[in-house]
Amino acid sequence: MLNWDDPIGQLKKDKAKTAAAKLPEITEVTGAESADREPGNARKAPVSAGIKAPVSTGPDRVQLSGGAEPVRAEDKRIINGKTDINQLAPFKYPWAWKYFLNANKNHWTPTDINMGSDLHDFNHKLTEDEKHVYTNVLAYLTTSDILAMRNIGLAVMEKMSAPELQIYQARQVYEEALHTWTYQHCIESLNLDQGEIYNRYRVIPEINAKIQIANRRLNSVLRPDIDLEDPGELTNFVMAYIFFAAIFEGCWFYNGFSPVFALQRRGLMKGTAEQLQYIMRDEVMHASFGIRVVKHILVENDVQLDPQAIRDMWDEAEAAEKAYARYLLPRPILGYNAEDHSEQFRFMANRRARQLGLEEPFPGAKCTLPWLDEQANLRKEKNFFETRVTEYQTGGALTWD
Ligand SMILES: [Fe+2]
Ligand SMILES: [Fe+2]
Repeated sequence: MLNWDDPIGQLKKDKAKTAAAKLPEITEVTGAESADREPGNARKAPVSAGIKAPVSTGPDRVQLSGGAEPVRAEDKRIINGKTDINQLAPFKYPWAWKYFLNANKNHWTPTDINMGSDLHDFNHKLTEDEKHVYTNVLAYLTTSDILAMRNIGLAVMEKMSAPELQIYQARQVYEEALHTWTYQHCIESLNLDQGEIYNRYRVIPEINAKIQIANRRLNSVLRPDIDLEDPGELTNFVMAYIFFAAIFEGCWFYNGFSPVFALQRRGLMKGTAEQLQYIMRDEVMHASFGIRVVKHILVENDVQLDPQAIRDMWDEAEAAEKAYARYLLPRPILGYNAEDHSEQFRFMANRRARQLGLEEPFPGAKCTLPWLDEQANLRKEKNFFETRVTEYQTGGALTWD
């Protein structure tokens, strides 16, 4: 079963058994690559069509016939790198490539999943309070996923200077678009008023507040004049990346799905819940990848984060989430309430902070939704395909190693 805390943890364990993993994690150059660079030896030419054998010009470097030097893995950087962004390997960050390969195992489209029972549930079984929860979850998520797509595709990806990172982020951009399609499919399937649902983030203050926080972070790193050699700009970019990976995807999305999973546990809105299970798999990977990238940037660039700025970020996110929870659940629904939702946010925030190597912002926060990890997994029960229009083998055969 997928470990939601550390989706590629098993990969790391396996890697620890290899010679390559003996290198410090932050450099992650494969053994084969490093073997080419014995001190005093001219570097071997990469075997590649169209590139002639290089002429040795010294003990450390050789020149390609076109005048460019071969890309060396150890010269790559997450940001501000000077190596050729168009050359995938040798990898310095092979884990990023693994994320890309794993992401491609979780593939589905929203039309694969039968929404028929959801339409009946919504019209005949949900209470008014439950409809309020369900529609506002969709309203929040659909706007959020467009923001997530714009962040990674327009603000983050272009700043990466190692192609193995951009490859995964390109997949991530697609996945965010797919998620937006999924919410749209749910909204259409239930014949909801699209103009009303899509405008909620603009007119509901508690939804708008969360979107504005994300917009502020995004707009601060979308400017064309950003120079990440500038320490202030770099710190701001890192803070925005932390916000999107650890809070926006790692907490708000994670928590955002849980009210629908609570309905699913009671046999309600099963099609929507299955759609969200697929999305959640992607989001767990996005958060995990982003946190890993941030940790590398911190080390490679010796960035010192301002503890007060971090504190303020958690507090702002918590206040927004509490207000959102109170709006979403002015009264509890069966099996779910606003206080548990907010406490689960704090619990998740602690988890993300630990993953980042930061202090827990909310010490002692309890896991109020202990069923969430289990519920979020796509279990292969005998009736697993009952909600599906087609048996989609890629998703059904999904493994994470
Ligand atoms: Fe998403
Ligand atoms: Fe995401």
